[in-house]
This record gives sequence, C-alpha cells and structure tokens, in this order.
Amino acid sequence: MIKVNHLKKSFGKTEVLKDINFELNQGEVLAIIGPSGSGKSTLLRCLNWLEQPDGGTISINNIDIEIENINKKQKQQLIKQSAMVFQHYNLFKNKTVLQNVTIGLKTNKQLDRSAIDARASDYIEQVGLSDFKHKYPVTLSGGQQQRVGIARALALDTPVLLFDEPTSALDPELVSGVLNVIKSVAKLNKTLIIVTHEMSFAEDIADKVIFMEDGFIVESGTPKQIFNNPRQERTAEFVKNDKGVK
Ligand SMILES: Nc1ncnc2c1ncn2[C@@H]1O[C@H](COP(=O)(O)OP(=O)(O)O)[C@@H](O)[C@H]1O
Ligand SMILES: [Mg+2]
Repeated sequence: MIKVNHLKKSFGKTEVLKDINFELNQGEVLAIIGPSGSGKSTLLRCLNWLEQPDGGTISINNIDIEIENINKKQKQQLIKQSAMVFQHYNLFKNKTVLQNVTIGLKTNKQLDRSAIDARASDYIEQVGLSDFKHKYPVTLSGGQQQRVGIARALALDTPVLLFDEPTSALDPELVSGVLNVIKSVAKLNKTLIIVTHEMSFAEDIADKVIFMEDGFIVESGTPKQIFNNPRQERTAEFVKNDKGVK
C-alpha cells in the first residue's frame, strides 16, 4: 500500500533523510520512534508533500512517484492520499470546532452546506466532542484540540493518516484520551503512520515499528522484536532509555 525507496531530503547542506526504505500494507499501523532530530517529522512531511523530497520513489495506493520526475497531477494525487495530525494541532483559532472540521470537506467534496455540516458532525462525534461543536479552540483543552485535529484529518477521507507526535504537547493527564481516540481510528481500516514517544502505546497499537536515527532507519520489525529483542545496539539503548524515563 505504501512503498518508499531511497527517499532523500536535505535542507541546504544538512542531509536529513539519507536513504529511507520501508513498506506498509493497507490497514496496517506503523509506529516510528527515534531521538529528536532524526528526521521523523521530515519523513512524514515528505509523504504528504509538505516538504519536497530530493530523490527516491514513493508509492501510495497505486500512485507511483519518482521524486525527480513528479508532475503536477501526480503531486495532487499524492497529497490526496494522506492527512496529517500535527503535534501542535494547527487549528484555525478564529474558527469553531465545526468550521475547523468542515475545511477538509469543503476542499474535497461536492456537497451542499447542510450535508457538509452533517458529515463534519459525524467526525466530531467520533472523537467525542459533539458538545463542543460551536466552541473556539482557545476554550478547549489540549487534548480536545488534538481530537479536533484528528476529526479534521478524518474528514479529508484519505486512505492514509499521518500522526506527528500527536500527544507530546499534551499535559500527561490528557494523553490517554487522545491515544484512545487514535486506537479507535486504527479500527477504521485506514493505514496509519504514527511518530510517537509513547512506547507502550506503540507496542500496543503498531503492526510494525521503525527506529530512526540520523536520517536512517536503523531497525524495523514487529513491536515484539523492537521492544523486547532488538538486533541493533542503538535500538536497545534507545528503547531502554525511553522506557526508563517513563
Ligand atoms: N524546514 C527546515 N529547514 C532546515 N532544517 C530543518 C527543517 N526541518 C527540519 N530541519 C532539520 O532536520 C533535522 C530533522 O528534523 P525533524 O525531521 O524535525 O526531526 P524529528 O522529527 O525526528 O525530531 C533537524 O536537524 C532539523 O533541524
Ligand atoms: Mg518531529
């Protein structure tokens, strides 16, 4: 469903993604772990073309792209395959919850106003925020705001969802509510890629785990392999330390 080969990305002289290769089947959940600065966000952003990669190939949902020869139509097709949930929610502060969620529907669907609102309301209900439809983000907790971010991503109706540290900006007591919403999203048969520092969550939800460091995938495997029986010294060290912190 997703196949990435030899993906590369530099910012100026800094090589941030050096040679990224992985595959993921439809409906699977991939967790990406790794230290800060290892290129995790850049990888997600390249998949959604929020950053333009420099080389390699990306295939998502039968859309096959050679980065160096991509055309405008392929770019538009690629962008439609995935929706992003951001670490800092990235909601429009001057729009209500409902308006934030309808943005995705408006740009993607030929629906009339009441149909758009009805669809958006369904997504808002899915993340447990029906009572907050007409509130503004500033009146919501971080956890509620992130759930709006998830509803907005769902409303784009893409086969792939990308989560970039969806809980790392949250107060600890708000984390589990958001993780539970992500768990329910994982049952929708979409393909999920989640960058996270929540090791036990990753272990619980993921079909596959990738450990990234310094622009490379150091190791990938099942959660069992990565968390209990890593082959690489660096993975073992990272997993141990990160577990130790908790
Ligand atoms: N827009 C950018 N311009 C320049 N450097 C960037 C940009 N985005 C990320 N970087 C650099 O790329 C490296 C990887 O960043 P990032 O992908 O955010 O890592 P992670 O998400 O794993 O913490 C970092 O050294 C960061 O400073
Ligand atoms: Mg990041």
